[in-house]
Amino acid sequence: MQIPEWLADIGKKRIDPYPVEGFVYGQGPQRPKLMLVGEAPGETEIHNGIPFSGRAGEELMKFLARAGVTREDVYITSAVRSRPYKWGEKRTRAGELVKRKYNRAPTSREILAHAPLLDYEIEHVEAPVIVALGNIGLKRLCGPDIKVTDVHGQFLKQPVRRLKSLEDSEYEWTEREYTIFPTFHPAAIFYNRRLLELIHEDMDKLKDYLQSNAPMDKQADQHEHH
Ligand code: URA
Repeated sequence: MQIPEWLADIGKKRIDPYPVEGFVYGQGPQRPKLMLVGEAPGETEIHNGIPFSGRAGEELMKFLARAGVTREDVYITSAVRSRPYKWGEKRTRAGELVKRKYNRAPTSREILAHAPLLDYEIEHVEAPVIVALGNIGLKRLCGPDIKVTDVHGQFLKQPVRRLKSLEDSEYEWTEREYTIFPTFHPAAIFYNRRLLELIHEDMDKLKDYLQSNAPMDKQADQHEHH
C-alpha cells in the first residue's frame, strides 16, 4: 500500500515551511500482520527511501524477529515523513569545524503538517495491531497525556486521533477503535541499554498475541513448523 500521489503532494506542501528534508513513503502490504508507527525518517532513510533502514532500523528488525515477523509482514510508517534536522558543528579529524545537520524530534506543527498522511494509512491499511514506537508516535495516536513508560506492553483498544480537516489544526477521535501496542522506539536503547530487556518482554507479548489471533489457516501453519 502506498498513499496516493495527490496526498503526498499535500504533505510536501504542508511541511515545506519547516526545517526538514526529503520524503519517505510508508511501506508494506495492505493487510500486514502489524502496522508500525515511528517518529520521522533520518539521514539514511531520506537517501534510500526505505523506512527504518538505518541504525534504529537494524535494532527494529531484531525486535520484529523476536515477535516472529519480518519486514515483509509489516507496514512501516511514522508520524512525520520528512527528516527534521538542526544545524550543528562537528570537528573533523583534521581539527576544523564544519557545519552539519543533526536529527531532532519533529515538532507538534510538523506532526500536524503530516497528519493527513498517517490518517490515510490508518484508515486504509488493515492491520490487526498498530505498534506505536516511542512517545512521538504514541502521542500522535492517543493524545499528549499518555507515556510509553507507563503503557508499553499493553494492548490498548481505543479510538485514535485524526486531523479534523485539512483547514484545521485540531485533532478529533476516530469512530473506530484500534488495537494500539505501545513500545519503546528502537533508538532509545542507544541511550539506555536497560530498555532492551523491557522491549524483549514487549516483543514476547506481541508474539503471543499474534499467534493466538492469527487466522485459522495460519495457526495450523504455526503448529506444523514449530
Ligand atoms: N526512526 C523512525 O521513526 N523512522 C525511521 O524511518 C527511522 C528512524
